[in-house]
Amino acid sequence: MDEAHLRLRNLVKSYDGVSSAVAGISIDIARGELVTFLGPSGSGKTTTLLMIAGFETPTAGSIELAGRDLTRVKPYRRNIGIVFQNYALFPHMTVARNVAFPLRMRGRPRAEIEARVAKLLDLVGLRELAGRSPRQLSGGQQQRVALARALVFEPEVLLLDEPLGALDKTLREQMQVEIRRIHRALRVTTVYVTHDQTEAMTMSDRIVVFNRGVIEQAGPPLEIYRRPATRFVGEFVGDSNFFAGTVTDAPAGRVRLDRLDTTITVAGDPGRPGERVDVLVRPERLRLVESRDVPAPLVTLELEVESTVNYGDSLLVLGKAKGQPVRVRVPGAAPAAVHDGAKLLVAWGPEDVHVVRA
Ligand SMILES: Nc1ncnc2c1ncn2[C@@H]1O[C@H](COP(=O)(O)OP(=O)(O)OP(=O)(O)O)[C@@H](O)[C@H]1O
Ligand SMILES: [Mg+2]
Repeated sequence: MDEAHLRLRNLVKSYDGVSSAVAGISIDIARGELVTFLGPSGSGKTTTLLMIAGFETPTAGSIELAGRDLTRVKPYRRNIGIVFQNYALFPHMTVARNVAFPLRMRGRPRAEIEARVAKLLDLVGLRELAGRSPRQLSGGQQQRVALARALVFEPEVLLLDEPLGALDKTLREQMQVEIRRIHRALRVTTVYVTHDQTEAMTMSDRIVVFNRGVIEQAGPPLEIYRRPATRFVGEFVGDSNFFAGTVTDAPAGRVRLDRLDTTITVAGDPGRPGERVDVLVRPERLRLVESRDVPAPLVTLELEVESTVNYGDSLLVLGKAKGQPVRVRVPGAAPAAVHDGAKLLVAWGPEDVHVVRA
């Protein structure tokens, strides 16, 4: 990775002097990277963003931008562009005046302002609407204006806090593609906050998973999905089955799943013998099979179907095996054998599981 552009070191924020909304965050973000902060409500994402922007003062720790300590620098001197979920546009100004605002505040020459505003409106696809008032725009268009306004002064860093939270699903997906495109065009270092895991998966170079004010894991989307560091991450990102187990034979990768009454083989080192582990199997990794007669190291599991959810392109089967809830995602149209009350056999092998410490 590039040398860090934005560097957070042991950031702590306590609003009340007792509990910590942010409890020691350290992360290096490379120049031009798009990083998402993903985590449940109240996990400290916005608080961290506000400290980067300078709207909240850290209780402890430091923030560096391009090697310069920002911790005590005033917000308007940080050269950071910000878009919030409801970061209202100025209602009495046209679209063009809104976008021009940061440049006028900086006293830029008129010709430069006009050229930059035209360029940014082109970038977000709103040139024809330059003369409109924000009230005459859709939610998606308003967020595009906010994005243009945040980028017009060529900030070193762009911060986006749930910018698409107020939009419907279709528009949100369009805007996700738009923001990716704009990011590729400008390569501005970007921190994107969301609690939508699909959005984080599709948008990010790297996902930083927050939980209770600390980072649970940071990594590329597929690594987070395939090799979550903790059960929390595995459950928060993507659909999951977790089964409790005990390592029986470490070199052979043998793990006993007591409640399923089966022993599986896992790829890689599962831990020390006797160690308690949680075994993750994604629902799409369980495959329907006709018979128990599968080649080792595959194992089968008998499942009673309790209900199904049809997504059109796949079927989610909710069932139980030995009293344990199990989720299976079957691609394509629903096979006739899958119905409530049916007994199914599913198979899985070492490549389908991932082990985390319990
Ligand atoms: N101004 C404030 N004063 C006191 N406590 C606050 C303040 N802002 C946030 N908190 C608390 O700090 C914790 C972290 O809040 P924060 O807004 O950073 O979470 P978040 O991850 O952005 O959540 P969400 O997904 O709901 O936006 C929460 O417990 C919240 O109640
Ligand atoms: Mg928030």
